[in-house]
Amino acid sequence: MKTIAAGCDHGGFALKTLLIEDLTECGHNVIDLGTDSNERVDYPDFAEKVARSVANGDAEFGLLVCGSGIGVCMTANKIPGIRAATVHDVTSAHLAREHNDANVICLGERLIGPEVAKEALGVFLTSEFQEGRHTARVQKMNRILE
Ligand code: RB5
Repeated sequence: MKTIAAGCDHGGFALKTLLIEDLTECGHNVIDLGTDSNERVDYPDFAEKVARSVANGDAEFGLLVCGSGIGVCMTANKIPGIRAATVHDVTSAHLAREHNDANVICLGERLIGPEVAKEALGVFLTSEFQEGRHTARVQKMNRILE
């Protein structure tokens, strides 16, 4: 069981809702930080909340959904301690964890189908950082915002 902070804008609301249902059914604890409807909002407000929740240790992982998965990712990566990755499929999901130790997964509702999104999220949550040659690279990345 993992604690996952979830957030989206209006462009990601439907997919976030579906993924939260799926995560909850799988026994995970989800902190839903909004948005809560299809009404137009600004993605940085929700991406920042999710990123801060992961950075301060309230959640182990973050899930962000917007139309493309890009704006939320750019925003989340402004927060020290966050390594957010836009993921399009199972391969990018496991590589983001294994090579980059990503702690926030970003998905684009307008670009990815629900089944691929569910599968990619599951793979992201179960893949482990491989350490080894990747450790020094991730440390270099982290140092930029220290
Ligand atoms: C909202 O229309 C859209 O710009 C947003 O969801 C996202 O795709 C931004 O990166």
